Amino acid sequence: MKYYFDWKNEAKDDEMEIVINDLKNDGLILLPTETVYGIAGNAYSDVACKKIFRAKGRPQDNPLIVHISDLEMLEKVAEKPNEVEEKLIKAFMPGPFTIILNKKNVICDTVSAGMSTIGVRMPNNRIIHTIIKKSQIPIAAPSANLSGKPSGTSLDDIIDELKDEVDVIIDGGECNIGIESTVVKVTNGVPIILRPGFITEEDIKKVVGKVKLDDNIFKTVSYGEQVESPGMKYRHYAPKTKCVLVEWGKQQINKVNELLKKNPNACVLGFEEDREYIEVDSRKFILLGSKNNLEQISKKLFTSLRKIDKYDNCNLAIIEGLPKQGLGLSIMSRLSRACEN
Ligand code: TXA
Ligand code: MG
Repeated sequence: MKYYFDWKNEAKDDEMEIVINDLKNDGLILLPTETVYGIAGNAYSDVACKKIFRAKGRPQDNPLIVHISDLEMLEKVAEKPNEVEEKLIKAFMPGPFTIILNKKNVICDTVSAGMSTIGVRMPNNRIIHTIIKKSQIPIAAPSANLSGKPSGTSLDDIIDELKDEVDVIIDGGECNIGIESTVVKVTNGVPIILRPGFITEEDIKKVVGKVKLDDNIFKTVSYGEQVESPGMKYRHYAPKTKCVLVEWGKQQINKVNELLKKNPNACVLGFEEDREYIEVDSRKFILLGSKNNLEQISKKLFTSLRKIDKYDNCNLAIIEGLPKQGLGLSIMSRLSRACEN
């Protein structure tokens, strides 16, 4: 890292100039978005995009999302959206929403990992928006974390693992949403959710009347299997410590307590409401938030997962699950990946 800029309150003009120059010179920037932090580089530059893959240790076949500032820029990077895609773009951009479109050739093959499509997202976070708008450079940015680890939603969580990989770090405080954007691909007129996020199935249905969840969201994909979104193949969000998920239901607390009896060195990631009934030392209870406030759980989710490895004697993390509905489904998709072995 050459520069650290604190832009929690505002972006400074001279620092903005440094950021834009760095982008133009194929440098990498660790920056906030409304969902999670990203490792950002010039999406037109093969050199910059290769650096992003290297920084994360990311598999070569997992494409990057291209971030744009407005619809004029969308036209530059992707082919014209069809009617259904158009409706989704109008409804959810700017925001935590990524749409898969056919790419134009200005976007290098490294970004798309050789696919003919790219994921396009128009973030509504003021910092990344201003950088894209002022530089007129679309930004390729995956979530800021080493490949396989939980995404970063606060700089404290990721600065150690990424500071040597980037030129500039921009501190924008904690991310508002906390889980990554909803990734959607329209196939035969039907929006298919490849990765659930803050924009839910229900939200999409309201706009175009139909929506489908990809079959692989909760499935472990075996090696060599064909999937719509390469990201589904890889282990994700995983602390080093082994994690188990206790599904939502009447017996949830009892099941957590049974597991605790068998595993005295376990810690628990649980809900505020269940805390007093879960028989674990309060120092080994990591609060996910209230089950009645899914936005709050989403915002703290990755920080909570990262806390697990900080407990010295904990050899198992027992995690309380949620109903797979609305934002709960998106949270559960991360938690179940964290619990894959
Ligand atoms: O909220 C977000 O989307 C964050 C912030 C930084 O914008 N970015 C993010 O990027 O989560 P990443 O690289 O961690 O996840 C991108 C996901 C991967 O699962 C990838 O496989 C999928 O999007 N993806 C990207 N391009 C695709 C394409 N052309 N077709 C199918 N899936 C694609
Ligand atoms: Mg990611």
